[in-house]
Amino acid sequence: MCGIVGYIGQQEAAPLLLKGLQRLEYRGYDSAGIAVQSGVRCDGLGATGEVLGVRCDVLGEGMKDEAGVRVVKRKGNVASLGEALAGSNGAVSGATMGIGHMRWATHGDPSDRNAHPHVSADGSIALIHNGIIENHAALRVELGKHGYEFVSDTDSEVLVHLIDHLWKSIPFMNFEGAVREALSIVDGAYGICVISSREPDKLLVARNGSPLVIGVGEGEYFVASDAAPIVEHTRRVVYLSDGEMGVITRDGYTVKSIGNIVCEKGLTELDFDLEEIEKAGFEHFMLKEIFEQPEVMQDVMRGRVRLDEGRIQLGGISDQLERLREAKRIVICACGTSWHAGLIGEYLIEEFARIPVEVDYASEFRYRSPIVGPGDVMIVISQSGETADTLAALRMAKEKGAMVVGICNVVGSTIARETDCGMYTHAGPEIGVASTKAFTAQVIVLTMLALALGKDRALSDAEFIQALQCLSSLPERVKRILGCSEQIREIAEAYKDAKNFLYLGRGYNFPVALEGALKLKEISYIHAEGYPAAEMKHGPIALIDEEMPVVVIAPKDDTYQKVLSNIQEVKARGGRVIAIATEGDEEIRELADHVMYVPKGKAFMMPLLTVIPLQLLSYFIATLRGCDVDRPRNLAKSVTVE
Ligand code: F6R
Repeated sequence: MCGIVGYIGQQEAAPLLLKGLQRLEYRGYDSAGIAVQSGVRCDGLGATGEVLGVRCDVLGEGMKDEAGVRVVKRKGNVASLGEALAGSNGAVSGATMGIGHMRWATHGDPSDRNAHPHVSADGSIALIHNGIIENHAALRVELGKHGYEFVSDTDSEVLVHLIDHLWKSIPFMNFEGAVREALSIVDGAYGICVISSREPDKLLVARNGSPLVIGVGEGEYFVASDAAPIVEHTRRVVYLSDGEMGVITRDGYTVKSIGNIVCEKGLTELDFDLEEIEKAGFEHFMLKEIFEQPEVMQDVMRGRVRLDEGRIQLGGISDQLERLREAKRIVICACGTSWHAGLIGEYLIEEFARIPVEVDYASEFRYRSPIVGPGDVMIVISQSGETADTLAALRMAKEKGAMVVGICNVVGSTIARETDCGMYTHAGPEIGVASTKAFTAQVIVLTMLALALGKDRALSDAEFIQALQCLSSLPERVKRILGCSEQIREIAEAYKDAKNFLYLGRGYNFPVALEGALKLKEISYIHAEGYPAAEMKHGPIALIDEEMPVVVIAPKDDTYQKVLSNIQEVKARGGRVIAIATEGDEEIRELADHVMYVPKGKAFMMPLLTVIPLQLLSYFIATLRGCDVDRPRNLAKSVTVE
């Protein structure tokens, strides 16, 4: 989810890299850095040591990078990096090749130390990395045995030391070979860019699960994680595929497989503008984020759902798992969409782990006299990690002696720092104000937590493995739903002028009804209410007429027949019904006015499927009404005030 840029050619690299990073900044990163191959001695380093503070830490005494790999990196935005560069006494000037990175923290807080590029101990190799190295902990231990010391908390730093180690320890090894060897040892996802003063004038790039594009100019080449930083220089690009590596010099480039077989790659001509590229061709960030969900789901589960080993590994809480299992009660606190994820968490934890759960609005929790204390566990859920009410509830619970576990998307955010332990959602930056991918990522984390708590307790081995299989199949199922977006757009067309909507669901899908209604109201400004389907007859049924569309979430589960009766009640009063149903359900077609289908699945995973058409329905209705879905009125992405 981080941003990568690289350059090799005749122009001054540092300003180009900086500009490239600015082009990626729209995604909202937390630190930035560049490394250039200067080809000059590092005389005068003392004078620049302050600005190059991180580099000095990394290189240590002696600054042996005589051929000149020079690094400047900073916590904060590109402007902070620009200031650092401006004050560096020209330490990076004159270089005509280099790499740059914008970090969205996954392992380790946003800080100068954890920012990329990472540098080998002798300062001769600099590397930037997008993705997650799953076996970084084991590799750290191995490299430690060979005397490697780590200066950051990142998984990425492992790669640069591994390359260095292989290069030095294998006879006749070269730069390319060392990178190739290292990539065959690491597990996980990566997009990397590496330079080395030991083989200057060569830029190596590789991809596995994290996008990389090479821009082809005249005697110069550009590299980036998306085409945004490239398009102003050249429109001719080569997209790397997974398992491919590019070797780029000023004279040309070769693409090979990691196994060293040359790949014939055609050039693609970019024919879209910068804004389109930033949104990956989607009209809005919200739509892009909805469509990103299959990949995000994979990222959330990466290294955690270990189907082959039949277990779930939640690094952030593994030391506390027993304490969590012994909790008298779990209280989940959050706001808005995160609160809806919390409600699903209640169903999951009670079903799988049989621990009593209560879900509270953080704003209510803090202003009543809640009974909470030692023996209780509070789970706080927050995309931003900065929501004022959630933070206050967390502090209150801690003060009263409860253990507090965080589920956050933003690494190093206040909530992430103040909780006793926690899990990151790894959904990447969410720019659309209406939360979509962060919500599904939260629900997956809660599902993994509930399963981990339930393993060897309420869940049999067979049930546990079956649940892992279901989770692993999720991204493919979500892709199928996204493939039906055109039908959903047509349904939106039929309802875009409605003034009110009712959303109904039962069991796991009741919180989804709430979330569907919230999504619609916040971006389309149509009044919408979510209800448990069975509650309809206790009041809301009075509202139903032909002016009031009712969205009914009705997958084939234990409550299906009852939900069908609810649909009949709506139809009997002249209401119009949009049903979310299981693929192959023809019966519901007879009753509902419109049907949006989702693939079959176990009841516990249905919210992760049924919410997708609801996100799309809201998006299409809002855009058909001309609303700015990325900047809905009166709303901010992060609510840091009460
Ligand atoms: C709705 C939405 C909000 C947030 C809420 C909590 O789409 O995004 O309801 O969910 O403001 O924010 P976080 O999760 O950052 O604590």
